[in-house]
Amino acid sequence: MRVAMIGTGYVGLVSGACFADFGHHVTCIDKDASKIEMLREGRIPIFEPGLDELVARNKAAGRLDFDTDLTRAVKEAEAVFIAVGTPSRRGDGHADLSYVFAAAREIANVAEGYTVVVTKSTVPVGTGDEVERVIREARPDADISVVSNPEFLREGAAIEDFKRPDRVVVGTEDPRARAVMSALYRPLSLNNLPLMFTARRTSELIKYAGNAFLAMKITFINEMADLCEQVGANVQDVARGIGLDNRIGPKFLHAGPGYGGSCFPKDTLALTRTAQQAGAPLRIIETVVAVNDVRKLAIARKVEKALNGQVRGKTIAVLGLTFKPNTDDMRESPAISIINALIDKGMQVRAYDPEGMEEAKRLLPASVFYGTGPYEVAEGADCLVIITEWDAFRALDFERLKTIMRQPVLVDLRNIYVPEQMAQLGFAYESVGRPTGAPAESQLTAAE
Ligand code: UGA
Repeated sequence: MRVAMIGTGYVGLVSGACFADFGHHVTCIDKDASKIEMLREGRIPIFEPGLDELVARNKAAGRLDFDTDLTRAVKEAEAVFIAVGTPSRRGDGHADLSYVFAAAREIANVAEGYTVVVTKSTVPVGTGDEVERVIREARPDADISVVSNPEFLREGAAIEDFKRPDRVVVGTEDPRARAVMSALYRPLSLNNLPLMFTARRTSELIKYAGNAFLAMKITFINEMADLCEQVGANVQDVARGIGLDNRIGPKFLHAGPGYGGSCFPKDTLALTRTAQQAGAPLRIIETVVAVNDVRKLAIARKVEKALNGQVRGKTIAVLGLTFKPNTDDMRESPAISIINALIDKGMQVRAYDPEGMEEAKRLLPASVFYGTGPYEVAEGADCLVIITEWDAFRALDFERLKTIMRQPVLVDLRNIYVPEQMAQLGFAYESVGRPTGAPAESQLTAAE
């Protein structure tokens, strides 16, 4: 089957490469000529584990190519995916759909024969209707179906998520479009893939409802962590204790500095706006958005606490800048607000991240020093702060750190170390929702 994928961001590039790996012929299209040039030369503009190899393999097999112009690929395609960005519109938090509609117009101008136009970008309920209207206005004779097919992949695990999804949701009531979508995803049905067909608007809402629910789950455990700190309980044990209940489930119950990334912050906000406009406000999600925003600012206070309020002139070593591990994505990363807060309070920041430093340099104050590894940034520091749980930070050499830091103080915002062990190692230790330096209440590790 011939596929055109418009937009080579995380979603477009991963989906395009994976569809090619299924055996389809895919052309990935982007207006950004430098990106297309890079891809043609075999270089990948983003960091996503396994993607370079996947792209190279399918390019070599002649199933994956790249273009700045969509004409040829759209003419030939049975399915054209719109996977362009839908950033938050400045001022009101609604999703900005201008790129989606621009792509729809271009598709309308050149499509030939029956074509299924699939929105993979995260778009508010009703966008499919608008896309269809835009296309029909431009080309009343076009033989097209507009389908919603939201993406549920996580950055850092995107290929695995695409190839082994919990479900694939397709929003269309048109039998012809259904047949095309079934054929596209057929390679997955060998793994008993739950391919779920719904009405288009329902499918659009499923995407937002899923992200909002997960953001709510994280925010719930984050607030529970604050309560644990006040009453002397351990949030990891609370998470495990409730997560073993199948109705709750153990995932997405890791307390931390607040959720970030390109999806949860933007999508939760956009969903609240849609709901307000529809006259059915989602008060829980409105609260989730507000609680998370405050958390990302307030969590820097843990550093002040660890330093007994003596912060002016202190040097802080920060490990991890990206919003989560295995990505170079800094969007809405808690590290941004934390580092700004530390600098505002008169501290100097030395930072290290395995993949995010280039992007961080554009987003963080110029005074931040960037090191080549954990030990270089820890040199002379009064406090070490772990913001992102990269594997490289899971087995730090604390004896070495003690000799190079000015004082042994660790703020672990991802709870990767054990309070009692840190106490034994002679570190003043602050984590999230767990007793400070006191023995853990249970030997059980956190629920995954
Ligand atoms: C999220 C969803 O998980 C995907 O299903 C969805 O497709 C994607 O958004 C999207 O809409 O495109 P992603 O943003 O890549 O994926 O990252 P997550 O792994 O969901 O993490 C989001 C944030 O929540 C991170 O800042 C992470 O540190 C935080 N988090 C996650 C926690 O603080 N605790 C947890 O238990 C889990």
